[in-house]
Amino acid sequence: MSGEQRFFDFLKERIGLDVASVGSAIIERAVRQRCNALDGVSSDEYWHTLQGSRDEQQALIEAVIVPETWFFRYPESFATLVKLAKARLAQIKGMRALRLLSLPCSTGEEPYSIAMALLDAGLAPHQFKVDGLDVSPLSVERARGASYGKNSFRGQYTAFRERHFSAEGERFLLSERVREQVRLQVGNVLDPGLLAAEPPFDFVFCRNLLIYFDQPTQRQVFEVLKRLTHEDGVLFIGPAEGSLLGRLGMRSIGIAQSFAFSRYSEPEPPAVLLPQPVPLSLPLPSRKVLPPAPRQRPFAARSATASVPASAPAVNDAASLLAHIASLANEGKSAEARAACEGYLQQHEPVAQVFYWLGLLSDVAGNALEAQGFYRKALYLAPQHPEALAHLAALLASQGDVAGAQRLQERAARSMRTADHELKR
Ligand SMILES: C[S@@+](CC[C@H](N)C(=O)[O-])C[C@H]1O[C@@H](n2cnc3c(N)ncnc32)[C@H](O)[C@@H]1O
Repeated sequence: MSGEQRFFDFLKERIGLDVASVGSAIIERAVRQRCNALDGVSSDEYWHTLQGSRDEQQALIEAVIVPETWFFRYPESFATLVKLAKARLAQIKGMRALRLLSLPCSTGEEPYSIAMALLDAGLAPHQFKVDGLDVSPLSVERARGASYGKNSFRGQYTAFRERHFSAEGERFLLSERVREQVRLQVGNVLDPGLLAAEPPFDFVFCRNLLIYFDQPTQRQVFEVLKRLTHEDGVLFIGPAEGSLLGRLGMRSIGIAQSFAFSRYSEPEPPAVLLPQPVPLSLPLPSRKVLPPAPRQRPFAARSATASVPASAPAVNDAASLLAHIASLANEGKSAEARAACEGYLQQHEPVAQVFYWLGLLSDVAGNALEAQGFYRKALYLAPQHPEALAHLAALLASQGDVAGAQRLQERAARSMRTADHELKR
């Protein structure tokens, strides 16, 4: 077994993380971080420590997970939830409280959004309870603290902040009234006994987790989710995660942008995806094109605010460095752009945009395999990154993986529709 493979296998077994979907460098980096944290032990020594320490196992998991989340992510799904929850309460004639589950809940934004949406719609506190579970104890602890920075409030819909939070310096503290609706605990979706003693849930949210699993693991997790979802219940998933559900006895409830599924008892349909595939409007980058013509500006900085001349003096802060990379790349200075990307990764936390650039630089240099790895890393950090999706799709198509390319193109189209829609709000 290679030195790294044992860590990949460990993470696959413990949390389902598929090295092929995130790229080995992300895991290698996490292992390096942990070796450094333990006074620079070697990878063999670290492996030995890992075997004997549950705390260290958890620390490695914390180093590799992506806790990226925010309040009211995919706003339509919460509007749909409110309608369905009212109908469900009427159906069960208020005989019991509605049961809702957010798995994974990360730092709490999703389960608290569920609670705020239902309270704002007029449900009384005794009419529902939300459970939030995540494999990361650190994230669950943060969720319990319920204190949030600006990054948790994205998009234009932030009126809920005035209603449910109080400002504390730079941060916002969630009201007790909302917090009381949510019970938070550590839990692993791969645990076959997860919540086994609990009655099923009327609504289950499992979003932005399945994309990190390979197909057999997704299948295994869907079986758990099916068990946890009441037979009249609804399962909400992420925009890119519906491809298996049709074959596993669940189907879309047909409300756009909600990504919601219910059980399906008729014979299985051939292959149902949600949303329905749309004709592709995304132009595929030509596989033959080498360095980008300046007019095309494929490297336009998404997160950088200003363009910095390529000859600018050394820049260190993250935003300026991103702008500098964009500028170098747009001028066709591939070697300098690559060096700047590597410099960025040494100085700052990894971000999707840098991996996307590295992917594009490898792509135009004709190194398809390396490019593929970088695009996948970008998508690990930002699953809806539109350019990374489109370019990886083109790459797969050029290698004959038509089905893989089609899946990514559909994911890119959905991501763009969601972004358009959020912009119009
Ligand atoms: C990108 S967040 C998604 C949060 C939220 N559902 C959302 O869509 O905004 C992914 C979360 O999955 C959690 N996670 C990863 N593997 C898990 C597992 N096997 N069981 C439970 N949670 C897991 C991570 O700790 C991380 O907090």
